[in-house]
Amino acid sequence: MKRFLTWAFFIVLILAVAGFCAFLYFIPPFFIAPPETFSKAQNDAAPTVADIKDPAQRAIAEHGRYLVVTAGCIGCHQVPGPKGPQFDKYLAGGLKFLTHDGTYVARNLTPDKETGLARRTDDEVKRVMRSGVFPDGHVTSYRMMPWGSYTNWTEEDRHAVVVYLRHLPAVRRRIPDPEAPSPFRDPTAHEEVYGGKDYATGK
Ligand code: HEC
Repeated sequence: MKRFLTWAFFIVLILAVAGFCAFLYFIPPFFIAPPETFSKAQNDAAPTVADIKDPAQRAIAEHGRYLVVTAGCIGCHQVPGPKGPQFDKYLAGGLKFLTHDGTYVARNLTPDKETGLARRTDDEVKRVMRSGVFPDGHVTSYRMMPWGSYTNWTEEDRHAVVVYLRHLPAVRRRIPDPEAPSPFRDPTAHEEVYGGKDYATGK
């Protein structure tokens, strides 16, 4: 009887370990999959710069594209769709953020004349990336638009990003200006997630 129990114990143990390993294998981060599987869609979505004739401009724009893709601007400046970002309207803006100092919507970064970056000079675009200051004087929250990271880039980097953004297909899409703080209704709002605090009620 004792021998039977010992064997039964070892068999159950082996099955449990094998089951656990199978579980690890089938959850995505442990899946034996090349990293491109995760990053390819976002990388492919960024319009290429192959059609820029001047080789010097093309090299600068390619560097800008690299920065835009690796910094993940699309994470916020996306047009949200039912199945994730609508990549055909690349960087046309749209995600909304509720914070304790205002409600912000990620802006349209395509070169549209009325709703996009064609309204801004190169220096105005670089200034937002360097210090969060907009042409109307408001300083945007670094928690949303992460200028606190881009301020550490070189001036050449910011210039390359501007050259690339100016090369995107223009999308007409009006984005509302920031509004005063409003009570949180969205449970995924950044401040609630990161701050653990409801600024509407002060708790
Ligand atoms: C975590 C979200 C987030 C990420 C990531 C992000 N942004 Fe933004 N960005 C915003 C928001 C929100 C605004 C609007 C802020 C406002 O209206 O005050 C904004 C505004 C801007 C503006 C000002 C546009 C205008 O109309 O003047 C520029 C330029 C910009 N972002 C560039 C970038 C670039 C380039 C990247 C990637 C390198 C990037 N952003 C990544 C959230 C983000």
